[in-house]
Amino acid sequence: MNSHFFPICYLSFLVLILILVQTSSGSDNEQYTNCSQPFECANIGILSYPFWGGNRPQYCGHPNFGLNCTNQAPQITINSIPYRVLSIDYPTETLTVARAEFWNNPCLSSSTLQINDTLDGAPFAYSGDSQNMMIIYGCLAVPVANQFSCTNNGITTASYFGLMSGDEVPKEFATISGCKSSVIVRVNRTVALGLVVSSPSSYIERVLDSGFGLLWDANDAICSECARSGGVCGSDSGSGFACYCSDQVYPTACNSARGRNGMCLSSLVFTCLL
Ligand SMILES: *[C@@H]1O[C@H](CO)[C@@H](O)[C@H](O)[C@H]1NC(C)=O
Ligand SMILES: *[C@@H]1O[C@H](CO)[C@@H](O)[C@H](O)[C@H]1NC(C)=O
Ligand SMILES: *[C@@H]1O[C@H](CO)[C@@H](O)[C@H](O)[C@H]1NC(C)=O
Ligand SMILES: *[C@@H]1O[C@H](CO)[C@@H](O)[C@H](O)[C@H]1NC(C)=O
Repeated sequence: MNSHFFPICYLSFLVLILILVQTSSGSDNEQYTNCSQPFECANIGILSYPFWGGNRPQYCGHPNFGLNCTNQAPQITINSIPYRVLSIDYPTETLTVARAEFWNNPCLSSSTLQINDTLDGAPFAYSGDSQNMMIIYGCLAVPVANQFSCTNNGITTASYFGLMSGDEVPKEFATISGCKSSVIVRVNRTVALGLVVSSPSSYIERVLDSGFGLLWDANDAICSECARSGGVCGSDSGSGFACYCSDQVYPTACNSARGRNGMCLSSLVFTCLL
């Protein structure tokens, strides 16, 4: 065996050890510490990735999942429309939300955004048990079921609601006229079909307040990998994923770079032994 090989081997061994010690003894990563903080709002439980807001900066979540704690409830804004978050189910990646502006009030107010619910460009999909419902306001009163009244500036007018099949205006709306506005809201179909319409006004209020399901899509598979490695999920300054670990930031999971160093080390040890 070459006698010069041992000192070289020994030296590279020392250098590698030094590199390893440096990468593993770095001070606690600030983002890791900040993102490990829970954010609690009302009785929704502890909010974690992909959600951010409150004491959790944006890098602790996915950009589209910012929450505000408004009126004692977590609120998310999707395509400019504020929604009250009723529950979050992490294993199924489902969020149950209700239009915040219609909370306890199925009528329009001067501040209601008369915008139809839409998920255009948002990282969400409607859950399978949801359906569109159309509500029309400021109409003339005609003998059609599903009618409730709203009072605006002292004037009471008739409002009607109906479940839509696809984008079709409900057939029962055909004989209604004089309406001032309409809005399409998503509702939970099971709730909408299951409740008896004994009082249209309380029916529509209960249906709107029950909310509907949204399935989210936010790098959840990568996040599980990051969490398994002891990291905390988040995002980088762009819209990419980031795994915050106690030593540093990694693209997907903790120790992924050190894992490579380890392999380097064992192959070196193996070479030296030879
Ligand atoms: C972490 O949180 C502390 C206290 O809220 C704050 O001062 C600090 O700027 C945060 N660090 C980063 C990297 O955001
Ligand atoms: C929370 O609400 C404030 C004021 O309405 C707004 O400026 C901020 O962007 C909201 N934050 C999130 C995460 O939506
Ligand atoms: C909401 O949808 C209805 C029916 O498609 C449409 O007539 C109305 O203009 C839409 N409203 C807005 C604000 O886009
Ligand atoms: C829809 O309502 C039914 C009946 O209350 C409930 O079991 C289901 O979980 C709801 N779906 C969502 C996505 O919230």
